[in-house]
Amino acid sequence: MNMVLCGFMGCGKSTIGKLVAKKTHREFIDLDSFIEEKQGLSIREIFKTYGEDYFRNCETDAISELVNKNFVVLALGGGAVLKNKNVELLKSSGKIIFLDVTANTVFSRLKNDTSRPLLNTDDKLAEITKRLNDRLPIYTMVADKIIDANSKTKEVIATEIIDFFK
Ligand code: S3P
Repeated sequence: MNMVLCGFMGCGKSTIGKLVAKKTHREFIDLDSFIEEKQGLSIREIFKTYGEDYFRNCETDAISELVNKNFVVLALGGGAVLKNKNVELLKSSGKIIFLDVTANTVFSRLKNDTSRPLLNTDDKLAEITKRLNDRLPIYTMVADKIIDANSKTKEVIATEIIDFFK
């Protein structure tokens, strides 16, 4: 049974995923890093050179490969659950935890970040708000468990995740 973390950019999937993996002696896999290694390019370079559709195909290929593992903590990219096929694959191998944060939380964490191509716009808060509102119903629907990740410590969130899998 894999532990899969989903949620919007900046919700803490990678940071908390690493902590949960450490505490449960599981392997940690970050989907974006896995894709970057395979492609030999950063996410930003992949978007710039080949475009978003290409990246989304990389994501599905990577998920298809990773669901064959069975005792991992997998931190997804924020858009990975937007495709049904990805969700079906992920659900066949584990349970999905949604780390729920507000647009203001995301903005405060990512206002100086330049590594997320989808947020490199003039009005970052507006872009975050729009995309987050569009995606919220999907995150909520695919989740086996929803955790408010706005202001708790990563230790508290990690414990909630581990308790859910007990
Ligand atoms: C994306 C989120 C990013 C990365 C890419 C697209 C998205 O991952 O996969 O920039 O569509 O939300 P993080 O959620 O880890 O930032």
